[in-house]
Amino acid sequence: MKSIVGLLATMVMSVFLSGFNQEPKKWVVPEKYQQMKNPVPSDANSIKIGKVMYERHCLSCHGITGKGDGKKAIKLDQTPGNFTTTAFREETEGAIFYKMTAGHKDMPSFKRRIPGNEDEIEGSFGKTGTAGDLINYIRTLNKK
Ligand code: HEC
Repeated sequence: MKSIVGLLATMVMSVFLSGFNQEPKKWVVPEKYQQMKNPVPSDANSIKIGKVMYERHCLSCHGITGKGDGKKAIKLDQTPGNFTTTAFREETEGAIFYKMTAGHKDMPSFKRRIPGNEDEIEGSFGKTGTAGDLINYIRTLNKK
C-alpha cells in the first residue's frame, strides 16, 4: 500500500513539475544554419520563382505582404510573425532557411516540400527552384 501511495505521489509530482516546463521555448537556430549563405543571386528571375513558391506554400498563414495576416492565421495558436519588421530583417538567410526547414509548433516543416539541397555546396543552401529563391522573395517583403 505504501509503495502505491509513493508511486501516486511521484506521478502527481512529475505532472506538477512538467507543468513548469511548459513556458514557451525559444526557437533556437543552430550556429551551423546561422552562418549559411544563399548562393542563389537575388535577380528578377529568382524573385519571380520565389513569389510563386511563397503564394503556394506560405501565403495562407503569412499573408500577401508577409505581415502574418493570412486567412489561416486566426486559427493558429501562435502568430506567424511579421516579415516586414526590422527584427526580421536582421535574421540571417540561413536562420530563415532553418526555420522553414525545421518548423516549430503551428509552423509546418517544409523540409520535404521545399528542398534546400544543403549538401550541394558546403555551408550554403538552395539552388534555382528551392529555398534560395523563396528566401530571395521573402527578403523583398522587407525593403521598405
Ligand atoms: C499553417 C500556417 C503556416 C504556413 C503555411 C507557413 N507558416 Fe511560417 N510560421 C507559422 C507560425 C505559426 C509561425 C510562428 C511559430 C512560432 O513562433 O513558434 C511561423 C513562423 C515562421 C518564420 C519565423 C518568423 C520569425 O519572426 O522569425 C519563418 C521564417 C517562416 N514561418 C517561414 C515560412 C515559410 C517560408 C513558409 C512557406 C514555405 C511558411 N512559413 C508557411 C505558420 C505558418
